[in-house]
Amino acid sequence: MDKFLIQGGNVLKGAVRISGAKNAALPLLAATILAETPITITNVPNLKDVNTLVKLISGLGVTISYDNHDVVKADTSTLSNQFAPYELVKTMRASILVLGPLLARYGEAKVSLPGGCAIGSRPVDQHLKALEALGAHIEVDAGYVHAKVDGRLKGGEVIFDMVTVGGTENILMAAVLAEGVTTIRNAAREPEITDLANMLVKMGAKISGIDTDTLIVTGVERLSGCEYAVVADRIETGSYLAAAAMTGGCVRTTHTDPVLLESVLEKFEEMGAEVTRGDDWIELDMQGKRPKAVSFRTLPHPEFPTDMQAQIMAVNTIARGFSTISETIFENRFMHVPELSRMGANIEVEGNDATVTGVEKLSAAPVMATDLRASFSLVLAALAAEGETLVDRIYHIDRGYEKIEEKLQGLGAQIKRVSE
Ligand code: EPZ
Repeated sequence: MDKFLIQGGNVLKGAVRISGAKNAALPLLAATILAETPITITNVPNLKDVNTLVKLISGLGVTISYDNHDVVKADTSTLSNQFAPYELVKTMRASILVLGPLLARYGEAKVSLPGGCAIGSRPVDQHLKALEALGAHIEVDAGYVHAKVDGRLKGGEVIFDMVTVGGTENILMAAVLAEGVTTIRNAAREPEITDLANMLVKMGAKISGIDTDTLIVTGVERLSGCEYAVVADRIETGSYLAAAAMTGGCVRTTHTDPVLLESVLEKFEEMGAEVTRGDDWIELDMQGKRPKAVSFRTLPHPEFPTDMQAQIMAVNTIARGFSTISETIFENRFMHVPELSRMGANIEVEGNDATVTGVEKLSAAPVMATDLRASFSLVLAALAAEGETLVDRIYHIDRGYEKIEEKLQGLGAQIKRVSE
């Protein structure tokens, strides 16, 4: 099992190229199922989760190629089944996103329930309720969702009980081929949903209200292929900018977009960092200063993203002062707290609220990654800690950060991957 060995104390400086967003690439790949003619997606990050979904789509009989660099080509004319097996879905829960497209185009699907993960139970009840509103017959049996529709899905009114990114994506991909008009209320507004909607429109879909919490979809008969580039990864961007804040350095993230993560950039400025925004780059200069602690609560976009909570908590552990963090999206997303505490962080957790008292210095200790974003927060802590930290179970981090040790080494970090 791979581990990272990180020598702390280096000030990170330089430029890092941001990859395509994992959380956009996954729904975009699922949407290839809707294309009647060949489709090409570029700027696809080479991640474990992406390769898992490519494998699952290939298992449907789709002719799909991924050059393991950044281009995916898919041709659905060879699709032969609508079955997404547990063996693959259990390793990558976003596989549930093939349900909507399969149902919309082929009238049936058998998709394994994704099950929970470290950060929460992650149910998909909202996905299923929304598909039923469009006329799907849904049965859950032996861990599988069996979905069928007589003829075509029918447009209708969908109101989500809570903001759900995956739920919004699934129903959007179903509604584009439904008969009639579908209104999706309380829709998620994450940039990755905008990216999906933009590609669907390029394929011939009729969607209005993009970027808002109410999407109106007029179903069409068929969708064709196109060429589409995945939007930049706003969470990867924020994670590398946090590395500059953590080490008092100056990092420029390129091939990204400041508009995608404005709520995070404002927190960096509140810390005392100098943030410069370009058209497709962002520079954070901490000017050798110790950051000021910042409080926040995670909320749906455009508010502060839950996927940046662990990383900013790591910065708060060495910041000046006291901060409070409320995690309102997931029920168990403080798994990084005990590991950060082993490194000397001073954090108290009460339910979904954490209070952090900044300390001057963290100290190296063997720690264990538990989930994707928690892993990055441990790497951040190790970059600033005295001594050499061993981070175990970094397979979590390989799910969502492309070439992470190369990118960090490029910024002057002393990090290496060891296999034991
Ligand atoms: C997406 O997960 C992201 N994953 C997550 O990123 C991200 O944290 C999350 O959205 C919130 O922004 C991908 O896009 C692949 P949700 P998703 O449905 O769609 C509850 C990362 O680190 N809920 O918006 O699964 C759910 O339990 C990952 O990159 C229901 O109760 O998240 C959660 O508490 C982690 N029933 C809340 O809603 C449902 O049917 C938000 O979940 C659906 C969701």
